[in-house]
Amino acid sequence: MQPRIIGRNLMRSIGSVFSRRCWTVSTEKEDRFIVLTDETNQLDSTQPGAKTKRLIFPSIWLRDNCQCPRCFDTQANSRTIDMMHFDWKVKPEQAQISAAQQLKVAWSDGHHSDFSLEWLKERSFDPDTQNAYLRRNYKFERKAVVGEKFSGDFQKIRLQSDHRGVSSDSFKICGAETTTESPGSDRVLLDWLTHLITYGVALIENSGVELGTIKILARRVAFLRRTQYGETFYVEAKEGATNSAYKAAALQLHVDLPYNRYMPEILFLHCILQSKQKEGGESHLTDCLHVGQEMKASHPKMYDILRSVEVDWSDIGEDSGYEFHAIHREPVVCENKDGEIRRVNFSQPQRDNHFNIPAEDVDSWYEAWSLFVQQVHNSENRALFRLTEGDILVFDNTRLVHGRTAFNDSRILEGGYMDWDLAHSRMRILRKQLHVE
Ligand SMILES: [Fe+2]
Ligand SMILES: [Zn+2]
Repeated sequence: MQPRIIGRNLMRSIGSVFSRRCWTVSTEKEDRFIVLTDETNQLDSTQPGAKTKRLIFPSIWLRDNCQCPRCFDTQANSRTIDMMHFDWKVKPEQAQISAAQQLKVAWSDGHHSDFSLEWLKERSFDPDTQNAYLRRNYKFERKAVVGEKFSGDFQKIRLQSDHRGVSSDSFKICGAETTTESPGSDRVLLDWLTHLITYGVALIENSGVELGTIKILARRVAFLRRTQYGETFYVEAKEGATNSAYKAAALQLHVDLPYNRYMPEILFLHCILQSKQKEGGESHLTDCLHVGQEMKASHPKMYDILRSVEVDWSDIGEDSGYEFHAIHREPVVCENKDGEIRRVNFSQPQRDNHFNIPAEDVDSWYEAWSLFVQQVHNSENRALFRLTEGDILVFDNTRLVHGRTAFNDSRILEGGYMDWDLAHSRMRILRKQLHVE
């Protein structure tokens, strides 16, 4: 289909002194697409490898995304166009680029739209532009962390706090030794969030031992998420414990709350009191992003069983007078449609003894599960370290499993949860405020 130049009388290419660009507009495929062509390089044919830039926009999308006050509320930053009165066969009748670098379209439904070229370029359907947008705003880079590298990575994620008690209205995170940023600055907060998103784990030292400190830290980002265990909870040996975590025995590697469809995603653990034993109360962490990726490459069939067989996870009990009976069914490894691991479910205490799969499939599931369990506990994949009083360990509960060794005396952690939605939101805001690309 040849491009059709529309609105010939009005159609002109206009170069801008400021942008030094020269755009023309045409339509393709029976007016289903409006095409903007950057003629700048064409005009300078002496330039080797000069490529014409074309931006292709579906006509229906342009009409749906008209930015005029009748179609879009700029105050609410929301589309208001009425879908029930939308002409789904709408076509452009005339289009031109104005001297003010706007695409002006007259539509078959009698409506007129203006779009700035800058706005359009940011929303180009070109795959490179779309991927760049998603990498920056949504599909954040994640790097798998291997146990033996944990000590090195901890140097990068070890941050000091300058916290001076719960009366302080802001929790100051100081940068690592290499940064010159001032304590508590938004830039340090952004670096911390970026690191947490990338590696899935970060440690903040020297935060004092006051209860409630993680609420203050969380307020730097957004707010904590309440669960059946409260807004925060204390991990300590308790009489009549209703959760395996609330005992002095060793706690096997696990994720928290896999029996929830909306599993809490970021776990904060603040070490208030550490065991005084020489050995005891040490923390384990394994990054299942690494374990899963390795297993997918080395044992794809077993990985596929873990990825596809739904397991029953449950928690039945009572905490602080609230009674609960939670059930969620999901595989051990959950992927998104790009085949990336988006969530891992792993908890021996909270794997239900109801296992609602065909009896013939059980043996092969246990075979795959046993391999995953071994790799999660493999010392090459697992970090073993001791939290110091005043440390706040923060990690991705959908990705890393955590546990601890047994202790005989007292040990208290205060824990709380937050969702990635909130941390990602704060990161986007900080990037914009600080002009960080
Ligand atoms: Fe836990
Ligand atoms: Zn409009």
